Amino acid sequence: MADARVLFDDKTGCSGWQAAHCAAAIFLVGTLLPAIATAEVKVSDFGKTADGVSVKEYTLTNSEGVVVRLISRGATLTEWHVPDKDGKMADVVFGFDDVAGYESKGNGYFGATTGRVANRIAGGKFTIDGKEYQLTKNDGPNTLHGGVKRSLDKVVWDGRPFENAKGQGVVFKYVSPDGEEGFPGTLTTRVTYTLTDKNELRIDYEAVTDKATPINLTNHAYFNLSGAGAPTVLDHELMLAADNYTPIDDTLIPTGEIASVADTPFDFREFHKIGERVEKLNDKPGKGYDHNFVLNNQDGDLALAAKVREPKSGRVLSVFTTKPGVQFYGGNFLDGVKGKNGKPYAHRSGFCLETQHYPDSVNQSKFPKAVLRPGETYRQTCVYRLRPNE
Ligand code: GLA
Repeated sequence: MADARVLFDDKTGCSGWQAAHCAAAIFLVGTLLPAIATAEVKVSDFGKTADGVSVKEYTLTNSEGVVVRLISRGATLTEWHVPDKDGKMADVVFGFDDVAGYESKGNGYFGATTGRVANRIAGGKFTIDGKEYQLTKNDGPNTLHGGVKRSLDKVVWDGRPFENAKGQGVVFKYVSPDGEEGFPGTLTTRVTYTLTDKNELRIDYEAVTDKATPINLTNHAYFNLSGAGAPTVLDHELMLAADNYTPIDDTLIPTGEIASVADTPFDFREFHKIGERVEKLNDKPGKGYDHNFVLNNQDGDLALAAKVREPKSGRVLSVFTTKPGVQFYGGNFLDGVKGKNGKPYAHRSGFCLETQHYPDSVNQSKFPKAVLRPGETYRQTCVYRLRPNE
């Protein structure tokens, strides 16, 4: 079966994905055509949003029996069932059983695609080409993860399943109108998830705009490698390919400094248990780990950013990215909300590794630039690989 990407290009005759609106039109037509690429990926109804919009669920499987589920609300990763060292399967990501769960206050962006600008923008405002924009604040004085009602984690995306030589996947597409959540420009965004036979979940992000606009797309999956709902991640061992991090103020906005991790609880250049030094951060901003790490690889190629291993199950998560940073969030705000199968997600029982541009990049002149302009295509990739004993 053809790659969805190829389908776009073949039908449009457009080169690549530059002609966004042309591709957007073909995408909509494509979703109406019967029998497109659905032979292997299972598509089911997941329910409706409070506003009555239908949400679809997609089930991907690979030759190892690994199963991933995604839903169209928020282009969200909802389940990932992987074997431990003895072949015993567990679902290692957080989620809810129904749409109401995802719409509830207890949903800390579980598995969602976050944007248009993931992480924080100081004061919720920025200036581009001399014009100031003010967003709605939803995190004290700041804007977090793209706003309040129509941030990318909350809207329902168009999904199209596919299968190609690399594996099974879904392309999610969403066109965010000019001014949505206060951001300038019509932003056409495509997020492609592919589950490979090597137990990798590859996420490719692409976007184009018709006005200059800040952008920072990531995935907000929470992992517990013992299985979602296990009591803690403090026993997991973490390695980060980062010699530096960005220190934060009381509202979790970077101060602008790029600081060495040496001799601090942020030094994960060698494996350390997440819990080993976390108590030292209890009374600091973020109340634990909730920081951006400056990845050693800054050249835009796909490179290893982080590894996490859980000694008892033997499961190992490796994270690769093209982006310059990763937010390591240790689940400090989790408070026991009940997720899938009624399992509680306790304080520090899940961690996120959100590959990203640095928080507040749009306002920080020394950070790598994260503004997309008309004629450019935003392209970033993150690969989560989950295998036992590696
Ligand atoms: C991000 C933030 C955290 C927290 C979570 C969601 O990771 O950095 O501070 O807001 O999202 O709870």
